[in-house]
Amino acid sequence: MTLSLHPPKAYLNHAGASLMPAQVRQAMLDHLTRESVLGGYSAADAMASELNAVYSDAARLLGCDADEIALPTGNTSGWREVVGSMHFGPGDRLLVARSEWGGNYAALSHIARCTGASVEMIPCTSDGTLCLSQLAQMIDARVRLISLTWLPANGGLIQPAQQVGALAREAGVPFVLDAAQAVGQLPVDVRQLGCDALTAPGRKWLRGPRGTGVLFVRRDFMPQLRPRTVDQYTAPYRDGAYHLRADAKRFETSEACMAARLGLGVAIRQTLELGVQTIQAKVRERAQRIRDALSAMDGVQLQDIGSERSALVAFSVAGVPASAVRAQLLAQGVDVAVNGPSFTPLDMAARGLGDVLRASPHTDTRDEEIQALVSALSHLIQRN
Ligand SMILES: Cc1ncc(COP(=O)(O)O)c(C=O)c1O
Repeated sequence: MTLSLHPPKAYLNHAGASLMPAQVRQAMLDHLTRESVLGGYSAADAMASELNAVYSDAARLLGCDADEIALPTGNTSGWREVVGSMHFGPGDRLLVARSEWGGNYAALSHIARCTGASVEMIPCTSDGTLCLSQLAQMIDARVRLISLTWLPANGGLIQPAQQVGALAREAGVPFVLDAAQAVGQLPVDVRQLGCDALTAPGRKWLRGPRGTGVLFVRRDFMPQLRPRTVDQYTAPYRDGAYHLRADAKRFETSEACMAARLGLGVAIRQTLELGVQTIQAKVRERAQRIRDALSAMDGVQLQDIGSERSALVAFSVAGVPASAVRAQLLAQGVDVAVNGPSFTPLDMAARGLGDVLRASPHTDTRDEEIQALVSALSHLIQRN
């Protein structure tokens, strides 16, 4: 059966899952063919150097060493591995910003409930940015973790990650950075950021496949982490005992989709070749054009916060629920996302927001796509 697909007129959900470039898809298809002819293990052996290169290329992208890289199946799976290997107790304080990713907030709330630790929100300034001076005042010996979402899932905000890293380093507090919306969109240097761990999925700004991710864990931070469980891969058997691996692969599982990993490798190399600064400039420019167009429309309200803006443009349409807007835009071939309160619960509650819409362009977003969004929205506003 032939696959018959109709691409949307405008794809503006790269912050959800970007469209994979043809070379990424081809690398995956080739490997699936290799596996079906040679068998999964021999196929992986045949691609051993390409598979190893995924670690060194990811390290180059993040400014670290290859042994500090693990390849999880997404952002959350990497984040969970690290935070789940930290051990908290009664009275420990875990700090988050108001725009923390809902998944991290849920996990930390669960940890707090199970251990007697507390999750506390770092106050923010009037534009929603985390307040550095109040963070500095909050830090004491009981603070055992700062978890920051660098670019929140909506709202355009870019948090001052490097300054948070500096405060965390000075106080010796572990700093875990959720860079799900940053890696591939902004230049990232983990040493400058001062983070102990950083997570990103492959499918968003890197344009890799679903089910892939990158996890950085600082080499000197690794001994502080005690995984809740190990297996023959993360702790190989030697001299009559299991020994936890020294590298970040201790946070992986032995089984993985090698085709997806190879696709991720191609996506990372393409990002490096194009240059993250070039990508940043292009997506910013396109996001600004969307912001300009939407802010000129009666009935459309931008829901962005922060002063320096990412390429995630949040908006709502007066009197029309976000899910209905999305459905009507989709019917006109325009694909945008809906973000519910569970994505950024503290921020949504503080701003009194329900669902919002999110438009996110990438480097190859064409003028016609932005135009298609604007005309579909005008049409919708006239009809409602
Ligand atoms: C800021 C942020 N963190 C984490 C995630 C979760 O990523 P994953 O689904 O790869 O676990 C997302 C997904 O949209 C996100 O936007």
